[in-house]
Amino acid sequence: MSCLTRAACAAMDAADPLAAWRAHFALPEGVIYLDGNSLGPLPRATEALIHDVVRRQWGEDLITSWNRHGWVDLPQRLGAKIARLIGAQPHELIVADSTSVNLFKLISAAIKLRPGRRTVVSERGNFPTDLYVAQGLGELLGARMELRLLDCDELEAALDEDTALLMLTQVDYRTGRMHDMARLTRAAHDAGALALWDLAHSAGAVPVDLNGAGADLAVGCGYKYLNGGPGAPAFLFVAERWQELARQPITGWFGHAAPFAFETAYQPAPGIARFLAGTPPILSLKALEAGVDLVLQVDQGALRQKSTALTESFIRLIDERCREFGFTIASPRAAEARGAQVALRHAEGYPVVQALIARGVIGDFRAPDLLRFGFAPLYVRFVDVWDAVDALRAVMAERIWDQPAFKQRAAVT
Ligand SMILES: Cc1ncc(COP(=O)(O)O)c(C=O)c1O
Repeated sequence: MSCLTRAACAAMDAADPLAAWRAHFALPEGVIYLDGNSLGPLPRATEALIHDVVRRQWGEDLITSWNRHGWVDLPQRLGAKIARLIGAQPHELIVADSTSVNLFKLISAAIKLRPGRRTVVSERGNFPTDLYVAQGLGELLGARMELRLLDCDELEAALDEDTALLMLTQVDYRTGRMHDMARLTRAAHDAGALALWDLAHSAGAVPVDLNGAGADLAVGCGYKYLNGGPGAPAFLFVAERWQELARQPITGWFGHAAPFAFETAYQPAPGIARFLAGTPPILSLKALEAGVDLVLQVDQGALRQKSTALTESFIRLIDERCREFGFTIASPRAAEARGAQVALRHAEGYPVVQALIARGVIGDFRAPDLLRFGFAPLYVRFVDVWDAVDALRAVMAERIWDQPAFKQRAAVT
């Protein structure tokens, strides 16, 4: 097979049915953005929308906007939109708080839904916040909860009559390895446990079918592939069958059955609204809505097809053009086992990523040695893939990464 050329990449862009969506993002000139798996770029529509919400809704209509502009049920309406992306019913999703806070709510709910069972099973390599939140809850619950961490291939065998919850991230934040959600959920159910999925690197990136997989609970981020902006609110999913039984511990007034009755005693709202806590952040929700509205216009299958072609091209170019520099591909080579990102392993990963960023190719670094590149199919082009690998080749061949400035560790990597 002949090597992949830049001309061949340009031809793929010319034939790409999703190519026009790139114009919907305010991407800076000269930047190749391969970090949409960390922070999605700014959709052009967001700026005008936020300006209008600030000036007209907040500025002129003031507090009447809660009713007049439907602010009060925005968490539900936006949840219903995200539900369409991940195979849930509209009333099974709500947008609120951060993924971390939502994990706290849902792990607590799961423990209560499985009385007599105390183990939460998860993966050692799960995203730290998932593990930290479970550890914190474990401290609170004492003997009533234990977190058990295992390697990926040990998970199913570890599920037993003491397991309350299997808690996993579908697409691994480091390597992009994708779990078989349906199989693992079935295994959890066979053991009498519930399954909670973190969709941070899935929603808007890979097709997800929560109800098809039988998932019980899920959480996910708004600021990655949904392009909701830095610190955008997160979403949470509770399958319809659990909603009336489930209780969450952050019993704030927005999750009350009648917030404006101002009763003394807490009464959970019917349905998914009981998973709200405090006043919804309207500006952030509006920005997220603009991002979600973009993703909703695109067929999820087409998105998956393109992101797979992008990651395949990247892996192929690394094999063909960077072989002598000592990179290993940390992501699965089988496309069906991989999300929309590729990670490379290299001992000098940190300065290499910094040198790439200085050349306008933005990826990120995850300790101890991973260079991580996201291929969000709405705006990444095949020529970007070629140019990014070309830049990587130059950084390595000319040892540009070896400059002291690229070795200074910043707070965010
Ligand atoms: C799998 C996963 N879960 C959760 C988070 C972050 O959660 P939060 O939005 O609470 O910071 C991330 C962030 O990268 C993540 O990758």
